Amino acid sequence: MLKTEDCGQLRLSDAGRTVTLAGWVHRRRDHGNLIFVDLRDRFGITQIVFNPDTNPDVHAAASDLHIEYVVRIKGVVRERPEGMRNSDMPTGDIEVVATELEILNTARVPVFHINRDSEVDEALRLRYRYLDLRRPRMQRNLVLYHEVALFCRDYLSERKFVEIETPILFKSTPEGARDYVVPSRLHPGKFFALPQSPQQLKQLLMVSGFERYFQIARCFRDEDQRSDRQPEFTQLDVEMSFVEQEDILQLTEGLLTALVPAVSDKRIATVPFPRLTYAEAMGRYGSDKPDLRFGMELVDLGKAVAGMPFVVFSEALAAGGQVKAIVAPGCAGYTRRQIDELTGRARALGARGLVTIQLRAEGAHTPLSRHLSAEQLQEIVSACGANEGDLILIVADQAKVVAAVLGQLRTDMGHELGLVDDNVLAMTWITDFPLLEWNDEEERYTAVHHPFTAPAEADLPLLESDPGHVRAQAYDIVANGYEIGGGSIRIHRRDIQERMFKAIGMSDETAQTQFGHLLEAFEFGAPPHGGIAAGLARLVMLLAGEPNIREVTAFPKTQNAVDLMTDAPSFLTDKQLQELHIEIAHQSPAAEPDDA
Ligand code: AMO
Repeated sequence: MLKTEDCGQLRLSDAGRTVTLAGWVHRRRDHGNLIFVDLRDRFGITQIVFNPDTNPDVHAAASDLHIEYVVRIKGVVRERPEGMRNSDMPTGDIEVVATELEILNTARVPVFHINRDSEVDEALRLRYRYLDLRRPRMQRNLVLYHEVALFCRDYLSERKFVEIETPILFKSTPEGARDYVVPSRLHPGKFFALPQSPQQLKQLLMVSGFERYFQIARCFRDEDQRSDRQPEFTQLDVEMSFVEQEDILQLTEGLLTALVPAVSDKRIATVPFPRLTYAEAMGRYGSDKPDLRFGMELVDLGKAVAGMPFVVFSEALAAGGQVKAIVAPGCAGYTRRQIDELTGRARALGARGLVTIQLRAEGAHTPLSRHLSAEQLQEIVSACGANEGDLILIVADQAKVVAAVLGQLRTDMGHELGLVDDNVLAMTWITDFPLLEWNDEEERYTAVHHPFTAPAEADLPLLESDPGHVRAQAYDIVANGYEIGGGSIRIHRRDIQERMFKAIGMSDETAQTQFGHLLEAFEFGAPPHGGIAAGLARLVMLLAGEPNIREVTAFPKTQNAVDLMTDAPSFLTDKQLQELHIEIAHQSPAAEPDDA
């Protein structure tokens, strides 16, 4: 080792010892003739003193040190003089008086501050990610990620789960996104698909008799990026045989309840985790991943406003839609401009408009007063359970629109009004998802979870007659408005799997070419099984209190699915393309002669 201790280690009891440290120059201060260097490594910072009286050559060499130089220092630990101690630093009682200095490497001036927390443009951070990762916040996040993964590994191993690796070069596994594909050199025109998850493989491992499997598994999905998505990400992937839904929920809940206090100072709001059916979640929160740290639930005004002479309400109800509201506390005093801004947001989310009632001390301020009597208004206010000072926001539309608009406004306003406690993780289960949903674009039903999810036993007969009303044995685990995991009990019989494929409009032939291996496996004694997968980065993001998963991913891609550090994806050479039997169709207008 080039060092005898790390930079976070030395204490008063080490005074008098000769030590060797190595790390980066975090800060340098010249105080008259003394030079102070804060030396940093992964474990902390130690103050080094260069004194011309003790060692003039070393002191002279220290004058050449710049920020982020990599150095090795030998010296003697001593107690810092009175008044120079720093109780904020674990090593703040001592300093090391340098007797030798070796510059292991020089460094260009960093492109942004590493030694203090400052706002840096994210593109710059990603281009120089290796520098960004030197910063304490990123170091903390990646260590936390490791601790979470390790905890999960230990927890599951102790419960007789085995970690088994599954291939990355595989066949398409639909999870609702596009596949990333890899061309085969040996088989012209053929492609591997990178797994969107190890779903089929973990099910096949159940057919193999492993009973309890887990994997910290890499997944790849070509989909629109969001703050909680990356094109490649990692799941804590679990599968068990001979289980029912309740067993998977209990296991996951046990793991999360033990994990959170072990690795963070966050508090889980309620244990056991509350459970909401999908229908309840959509009805009360307008979302299947509600943030339960605050109320502001959606109130159904259908009954209250039925028959009231306001066309926006009556037309929505007549068309089979809904009239619903949320109550924003303390917002009755919003200005015209603020109300317009909220209305704009509602429109951008798909609403045709937003009806507001501002419950001010002098009376209700609302456009409804032109259409409704004071009694009718009061009826609405009472149905909302609203009080003076509150602002009522009402949307009338089809259920889907009402949920999307009020659900999002609720989330946004909950944050804006400071109703969320950052120290709390409000975990909740969402259960009883529909099995299938109608896809207008493709004119067929698609699987809400994935096509291997088992229908609720009782709903099986509806699979052909009323597919839209079949419930799934599927569940999501949600925290603070994020879906951190999802899973289901699986189909383990060939005949039911075939019916499911039919229900999503898949021909027998396609089912055979794409999933023949799975259908066949089910003929060889497949046990009942089920499982779950959690997004590791999403979980770590919440534990670290970060706003997106790029902050807890070492080398993330941008929202545009690009790696700014290496400039991937990039072009291949003609030779590579030839070997892969690939020809690029140059469709970019820039590549065409300008003869249009
Ligand atoms: P699902 O598709 O719900 O289920 O994924 C499980 C969890 O993985 C995380 N996740 C993501 N994290 C980051 N970036 C992404 N692009 C991304 N997509 C998903 C989420 C999500 O809850 N095979 C099934 C699981 C099962 O049925 O056992 C599956 O993959 O936290």
